[in-house]
Amino acid sequence: MSTFVGRFFRQLRHLRRAAQRAGVTTFALGAAGSNVNIADGVEIGSTSNVFIGSDVFIGRDCWLSAAAAKIRIGSQVMLAPEVAIITGDHTFRRPGVSMFDAHLKSPEDDQDVVIEDDVWVGMRAIILKGITVGRGSVIGAGAVVTHDVPPYSVVAGVPAKVVAHRFTDEEIATHEQALYGKRITAASPGYKDD
Ligand SMILES: CC(C)(COP(=O)(O)OP(=O)(O)OC[C@H]1O[C@@H](n2cnc3c(N)ncnc32)[C@H](O)[C@@H]1OP(=O)(O)O)[C@@H](O)C(=O)NCCC(=O)NCCS
Repeated sequence: MSTFVGRFFRQLRHLRRAAQRAGVTTFALGAAGSNVNIADGVEIGSTSNVFIGSDVFIGRDCWLSAAAAKIRIGSQVMLAPEVAIITGDHTFRRPGVSMFDAHLKSPEDDQDVVIEDDVWVGMRAIILKGITVGRGSVIGAGAVVTHDVPPYSVVAGVPAKVVAHRFTDEEIATHEQALYGKRITAASPGYKDD
């Protein structure tokens, strides 16, 4: 029996990878827009808590951990390989409660992560619970993001700090007009579930 179940899941994984290679998204995501590409090896848990806009690339071996909170990814977003988005901590400050007892977690242990439009996340960056990554920003390779990222900033390091600005104020205005003057991408399909 267990061999049969193992074979079934192996076959399911194989089919999912084949479908991904063919450009078909087989995950039952909370919602997703058009042109969403999910590379091989991406793990998403739980898929129904993940909302993705349009024109999104999720690189090889990314890990989107959304077991008890939501991940909302906007439009025109790129996640480089091995990026981790982690919406939850274990409870570790309650005397008498083992960290292993995941069912005794507090609500604040799990918080949504929002990645706004036009964001590039560098390889192996880690984004922790409750973070909003502001529109137009860049996260450097290997960063550990522990605070919200201001729009159009470049953050890097552990913990991530602003190391540069992507544009001048004037350039931001030009950019916003060019990208959003004609369309509001925060309302793109899949960006919001309500
Ligand atoms: C962040 C990044 C985009 C460069 O941005 P930038 O505005 O050109 O920044 P600079 O190179 O001028 O660096 C600014 C400062 O941040 C530091 N810095 C840059 N990238 C860093 C990183 N990933 N981690 C830690 N510090 C970094 C630089 O050393 C520099 O510090 P200093 O002023 O003390 O010398 C680039 O370094 C990076 O990490 N790119 C991601 C590449 C990647 O993951 N590609 C995957 C394929 S899609």
